[in-house]
Amino acid sequence: MIKSIPHGGKLINRVNDDFDYSAITAEIKLDLTSLSDLELIGNGAYSPLIGFMNQAEYESVKNEMRLLNGVIWSIPITLPIFQKEANLLQLNRQAKLVFDDEVYGVITIEEVYKPDKTDEANKIYQTNDPHHPGVKKLFERGEFYVAGPISFIKAAPKNEEFQSYFLTPEQTRTAIGHKGWKTVVGFQTRNPVHRAHEYIQKTALETVDGLLLHPLVGETKSDDIPANIRMKSYQALLSNYYPIQRVLLSAYPATMRYAGPKEAIFHAIVRKNYGCTHFIVGRDHAGVGDYYGTYDAQKIFEQFSYAELGITILPFEHSFYCIKCDGMASSKTCPHDSQNHLHLSGTKVRKMLKDGQTPPKQFSRPEVIEILINEMKEKD
Ligand code: ADX
Repeated sequence: MIKSIPHGGKLINRVNDDFDYSAITAEIKLDLTSLSDLELIGNGAYSPLIGFMNQAEYESVKNEMRLLNGVIWSIPITLPIFQKEANLLQLNRQAKLVFDDEVYGVITIEEVYKPDKTDEANKIYQTNDPHHPGVKKLFERGEFYVAGPISFIKAAPKNEEFQSYFLTPEQTRTAIGHKGWKTVVGFQTRNPVHRAHEYIQKTALETVDGLLLHPLVGETKSDDIPANIRMKSYQALLSNYYPIQRVLLSAYPATMRYAGPKEAIFHAIVRKNYGCTHFIVGRDHAGVGDYYGTYDAQKIFEQFSYAELGITILPFEHSFYCIKCDGMASSKTCPHDSQNHLHLSGTKVRKMLKDGQTPPKQFSRPEVIEILINEMKEKD
């Protein structure tokens, strides 16, 4: 039996695939973020949420990092719409949730409110700089938020090649149960797995039963490596370097917010809903540019007890390849000075690939690099 209890006590399920929406005329157009949020509320990944947040819940999350019932929550889950759409909506009525003329869900409209987005940017992203990709997106989206419980009718179509990797929280929990793991560490990534990732994952695997490699495959910045290419690279890495009975690869269909510390809490809570007992937070988790301190995303957890959070955070130092140690290390385990250290990051791997350079094997496994080079060539 896995030990992880869903956030707030029980796994939410808002799936209603036979929902008859033929009599509903009102429509709300979703963007990629709200389409993915709808799915993740619907399948329980965002338990205990049952819909898009009303203003009181939104303010509480923004100001207190908690839902109104006191449960920890760090990122507002809201449904933005523009003024002209807001004018057409009526309270206490239902509206279809539509993307590309397809209906994916239905919301019961409890409230429509105008958020203070500058305040949201400052409190969630710690900046209102429009160059920050999360802040930019926040301001581009509709100026009103619609709130209310949802019914989830169907998931957005997934890349056919990787369809079988999209496990819901319930399916993930079942798979973990079948594997007999009691403890599972979740790993969030938006990059191909490089040697530093592999090192911290395997270090964690020394103390827990299994690893859920859970790449985020929803919308990311345009210069991040596309999800379908990443999925191929994960398969190549796992089949060559990991004991397959101790790893579960599954795709997490969320969009990236780049909110650093606040997103780290969110990532951990969601992975708890997927059945993880532990979660890795390395250096600059969910960060971008220089907006957050290297370990801010670890420090933010200090204010919560395990009893409240319900998942154990495994913090990792910035790790690197040390030429003298002839292996991966961090400042906690390596006595040599920094000239001997090769610092690895997804950004560096991306830059080298873009410049036509082959990242060395101390950086990334050759099987991974081969896939990235071939696939990126095809893409161009
Ligand atoms: S992200 O979603 O957190 O932005 P990314 O792929 O960059 O994804 O990192 C995945 C995880 O690995 C995060 O927890 C991050 O902190 C950690 N990480 C990445 N590079 C390193 C490194 N060199 N040393 C330690 N942790 C790292």
